[in-house]
Parts: sequence; structure tokens; C-alpha cells
Amino acid sequence: MIKPVSLNEVVRDMADLIEVSLPKRVSLALHLASDLPYVAADSGQIQQVILNLVTNGAEATGGAGGLVAITTGVQHLERDSLTDFSGWHVEPGMFVFVEVTDTGAGISTGILEKIFDPFYTTKATGRGLGLAAVLGIVRGHRGAIHVYTEIGRGSSFKVFFPVTEEAPRLEDPAAPEAGWRGRGTVLVVDDDAEVRTAAALILEYAGFQTRVASDGDEAIRTFRDDPSGIVAILLDMTMPGKCGEETFRALRRVRPDVKVILSSGYNEHEATERFVGRGLAGFIQKPYTPDALISAFRTALTGEPPEPGPG
Ligand SMILES: Nc1ncnc2c1ncn2[C@@H]1O[C@H](COP(=O)(O)OP(=O)(O)OP(=O)(O)O)[C@@H](O)[C@H]1O
Ligand SMILES: [Mg+2]
Repeated sequence: MIKPVSLNEVVRDMADLIEVSLPKRVSLALHLASDLPYVAADSGQIQQVILNLVTNGAEATGGAGGLVAITTGVQHLERDSLTDFSGWHVEPGMFVFVEVTDTGAGISTGILEKIFDPFYTTKATGRGLGLAAVLGIVRGHRGAIHVYTEIGRGSSFKVFFPVTEEAPRLEDPAAPEAGWRGRGTVLVVDDDAEVRTAAALILEYAGFQTRVASDGDEAIRTFRDDPSGIVAILLDMTMPGKCGEETFRALRRVRPDVKVILSSGYNEHEATERFVGRGLAGFIQKPYTPDALISAFRTALTGEPPEPGPG
């Protein structure tokens, strides 16, 4: 749920969790700026961003161990610093940043250009989803990411969120995302009938109409049927037959600007880096809550962080 949040509070609230999740050989340092302005954000998603970046930082230090630091601050981004590392443009203005720095191995140029691709990993047991999720969340918040890295010295991922003028409300709306209604038809593609039905129900509850497809070929046929009536597609990554990657490409050939939200399960390891997912409208990890699913569609379709709901 989007509301005015303090990044410092988010970091402080999760510091204990981070502390216990880090290996003993990695120490954590916090440098939190005083008097940070608020940002309009989903604090759960911000936590996920920080956790993914800290995990990567710790993993980058390898066996030797090292330091991971979380720094917050305020910065004005000018026009020329607005194309971030991922090629995404944001409006100039004041931003709050959270920067995660590690003393790890650094990232070589060839790898650097792929790190945000879904399923790109250099780790034996990595899923390659951490940074894809980070990028999706940051874009959903109209933010930006800058990456600095030096081989042998470490890396720093600096995530910017636009400052909001709004002050936090004392009471949160009872039902998150309750205020927003979707419109149009969503195509739900999943080989798992239960997931398909649940996702369709949630989306209908949020105001969408839905169509379903149980594999890639059916999805493509359904979309070809009505390319302009379908406003967005929820696409499962791993399916028998045509995989998510092929299906994604084919759907984009039918209509290049189609909004595709990729979903992927925890236990499915896509072994390769075949999927080049730039151009995805969103990414959601299974299992997801109804709210997370609606939020993903809301950000993908409105392109802006939702207004805080009725208070
Ligand atoms: N701080 C970092 N230092 C060095 N390399 C990094 C760092 N962060 C990311 N990378 C590189 O980017 C790749 C992709 O990162 P990402 O978090 O998306 O996936 P992963 O960590 O491999 O797997 P997962 O996060 O799904 O467990 C990593 O495999 C690694 O090669
Ligand atoms: Mg990771």
C-alpha cells in the first residue's frame, strides 16, 4: 500500500532482521541522515528492495567477509543525472535515497549490463530475481537506481525515491488497495488451474474482467483474438510447452506495447539466462497476496504510485 513513509524508519524497523540474516563474517553499518523528507511508497516493497540489495552485498563479500552499509540521504537529481543505470527516465526534483554499499568483489562491465535481467545470475544457487524485483519496485515508485562498482573494492546500489509533500496519516485505510478499481480485460496465463482461478478472482474483485489461458499457445491465440481489448497480461514464467520467454516475445509481436506482468514461483529455478525481460511492465513473485497482485497491476497500468487510499 502506498502512503507517506520514512525510509529511516523502514531501515530501523528491519535492522534486526537484517542483522540475523547476515553471515557472521559480514558486519552491517547504518548511516541514517536526520530529518529525511517522506516518500510516497509501499513500505513492504521498500523492505524487499533493501533486503535484496543487502543480501547481494553480503554474498559479494564471499568467504572473506566484509562490510555492508546502508546510508540514507536527500539529493536533488538534475536533468542530466536522470537517465539511470537501467535507462529509465524520472522527473527532476528532490529525492530521498537509500544506498547499499558492500566491500565485495565488484561487478565487471560484461556482467553489469545484465544484472537487472530476470533470471540472470552468476551464483550456483541464485535465481536471478533479486535485482529484477528491485527494478520493478523502483520503477513502480517513479524512482531511479544508480550503480557504482569497482573490481576488488566493492559495489554500491543507490536507489532514489521522489520526495512527497504529504505528511503521514495517523490511521491507515482499513483495506489496502480498496480504493482502486481496475478496468478492461486482463489475460491470466498459468498452467496451474488453481493459481489461474485465484488470480482471475482477485483481478475481478479489483474491477477487471478476465480471460484465462493454460499455456503459451492458448495465450497467444487469445491475445490475437482481441489485441486491443486486453489491457494487460499476467504471465507465468515456467509452463510446459511454450515457456514464458517465448510466449512473452510472441505476445509482444502481436502488440509491442502490451503490458506484461511476469510471475514466477519460488521453487522453480529457471536454469538459464535466456529470458531477456527488459520491457516488462512488472514482476510478481509467487506466492503473492491479493493486495500485491492488485498493486502490481495498478502500478503497471497507471504508471504512477497510487494515491494513499481514503483515510
Ligand atoms: N553487490 C553485488 N556485488 C557483485 N555482484 C552483484 C551484486 N549485486 C548483484 N550482483 C550480480 O548480479 C547478479 C544478479 O543479481 P540478483 O540479485 O538479481 O540475482 P541473484 O542474487 O543471483 O539471485 P537471487 O537474488 O534471486 O537469489 C548476481 O548473480 C551477481 O552476479
Ligand atoms: Mg540477489
